[in-house]
Amino acid sequence: MNVALITGVMGQDGSYLAEYLLKKNYIVHGVRRYSSTNVELKNLNQIKKNKNYSKKFFLHYGDVTDTSSIFSLIKKIKPNEIYNLAAQSHVLTSFQAPEYTSQVDAISQLRVIEGVRQINSRIKIYQAATSELYGNSDTKFQNEKTPFDPVSPYSAAKLYGFYISKIYRTAYKMFICNGILFNHESPRRGSSFVTKKITENIKRIANKEIDCFYLGNLNSKRDWGYAKEYVETMWLMLQQNKADDYVIATGKVYSVKDFVEEAFKYINIKIKWRGKGLKEVGYDTKTKKILIKVDPYYFRPNELDYLRGDWSKSRKLLKWKPKTNFKDLVRIMMQSEFKK
Ligand code: NAP
Ligand code: GDD
Repeated sequence: MNVALITGVMGQDGSYLAEYLLKKNYIVHGVRRYSSTNVELKNLNQIKKNKNYSKKFFLHYGDVTDTSSIFSLIKKIKPNEIYNLAAQSHVLTSFQAPEYTSQVDAISQLRVIEGVRQINSRIKIYQAATSELYGNSDTKFQNEKTPFDPVSPYSAAKLYGFYISKIYRTAYKMFICNGILFNHESPRRGSSFVTKKITENIKRIANKEIDCFYLGNLNSKRDWGYAKEYVETMWLMLQQNKADDYVIATGKVYSVKDFVEEAFKYINIKIKWRGKGLKEVGYDTKTKKILIKVDPYYFRPNELDYLRGDWSKSRKLLKWKPKTNFKDLVRIMMQSEFKK
């Protein structure tokens, strides 16, 4: 019987991964943080609705910053695989709470790995690394050999997670894989990330709740994939004969403006841009109404302008390829907004 432990199970990736593993007949244990307010288990709705999963899916309170909680969960659950997804995953927030981000995204990675080393070093671990590690690399595509150059407290912390995983892999022969995933989105994305912020605000404009909304760096380019299909690669990495690190991406790149334009098409609005810098605005070509403005609050102290992944190693070794293109991803997110 395969038993998986997922930290960060309530997040975008954790919830899709839990569903993916349950379909594969895994027993899945997820770690959620305690909150004194009533946190909705929205991302776990599909699992809660499925009666077949009631004896296969278990939620535990815990926190990756707490050694006793993590060590006792590993001892109690006895997983074969741990997917370590818990993180303070928002880049701008990492500038506002750098010490906390380092605790969760760096030291807590060590905590999980060290727990496995002490309790049962044969447990396989997936470590959520990130394309943010590359920083403003001057290569057109980034792959597993591209040098890292982090530009945020978030990516510096993840860099520690990446290397500590590699170090334990070689020093203790542990099976730990770093997934260097490029941006991946879905209807389950948190509202403060740019894609979800755009789709939610377009819905508000359509409902006449707001007239316009504010964004930061409109020219930033990302390699956006679909989260639901990226989680498969986490599992695939742990099924290989040898632990390794893999880039997961689409190889295609689009700007924040491209995302805005594509998303507005869903409600038949054509966006054009005028002005420069803080004065740049996006307007409806038919009504001339301004729908997008720039607010410097959303700029990062260090911007990361361009990420584009070369996923050829994953294609070759994991036999994986991305299926959902940019337009489809935007449509999936917009459809979900308007279905709510
Ligand atoms: P997410 O939606 O922000 O989910 C992260 C989860 O971690 C949340 O459920 C959060 O819990 C939980 N968490 C935070 N601090 C914790 C703590 N101290 N103890 C236990 N749980 C904690 O992130 P995601 O998009 O699913 O990403 C999953 C992982 O992949 C993250 O490590 C992220 O950094 C990494 N990653 C993401 C992307 C991407 O494009 N999505 C790309 C590369 C790497 P709360 O719900 O209580 O806040
Ligand atoms: N969040 C946000 N909000 N970003 C904005 C906004 C805004 O209003 N306006 C422009 N952007 C730009 C950001 O400056 C960034 O260049 C780009 O949109 C994407 O921002 P996010 O969606 O916040 O994602 P991210 O690329 O910073 O980080 C995500 O992807 C990483 C992988 O590369 C997160 O999921 C990280 O956890 C992940 O590691």
